[in-house]
Amino acid sequence: MTNIYPSPHPLVAHKLSILRDVNTEPKKFRQLVRELGALLTYEATTDLQMSPIDVQTPMGTAKCHELAMKIGLIPILRAGLGLVEGVWELIPTAEVWHIGLYRDEKTLQPVEYYNKLPVEPTVSVCLVLDPMLATGGSAVATVDILKRWGVKRIKFVGLIGAPEGIKALQIAHPDVDIHLAAVDDHLNEKGYIVPGLGDAGDRQFGTA
Ligand code: PRP
Ligand code: URA
Repeated sequence: MTNIYPSPHPLVAHKLSILRDVNTEPKKFRQLVRELGALLTYEATTDLQMSPIDVQTPMGTAKCHELAMKIGLIPILRAGLGLVEGVWELIPTAEVWHIGLYRDEKTLQPVEYYNKLPVEPTVSVCLVLDPMLATGGSAVATVDILKRWGVKRIKFVGLIGAPEGIKALQIAHPDVDIHLAAVDDHLNEKGYIVPGLGDAGDRQFGTA
């Protein structure tokens, strides 16, 4: 079954509290999304494979390690974009591949509108970035796409998940770890997470 990792970190909880606040303006909102992306990715990447490397220091040879796997960051457009910069600061060698999906307002089903993945996979681990895991439709569809692309190791990094979305991702993709800042109570009749933070895309891009 999928492993779910709500962050235990006080900094994550603190920043999420400000992010949720209805009075937090887009500039601050974007900063917090960026910072939370970095903190959650730090937690999500503790098991990345390493290979040994000898490094010459001014004093001699140090037995060190470097990342052994090519990492792909997969932001789901558009709200996932805000998580990229913070993660990229930590993993500057990562490739970024965008997937465009929006939720149909009536059916809540994901509709794909952008996918420029090359034929062959160029990365061996993917971090799917999206602040909100609501019904789970967008996350499931993105992992479907990445598995068809040929990627074997996939993790989801998001800010807030609803029990419904977590369950849907667990059932569809039990091998995908889910890293979140918080697990919330439920979805409302329009598929929004309660208490959540509202529309993550609109709040980042000032389009509310
Ligand atoms: C939001 C969010 C996720 C999706 C989550 O995107 O960023 O991608 O909804 O909902 P789900 O789990 O029910 O699929 P939205 O469709 O609002 O598009 P946007 O990012 O362009 O605002
Ligand atoms: N997308 C959002 O941006 N917020 C929600 O609560 C659910 C889906």
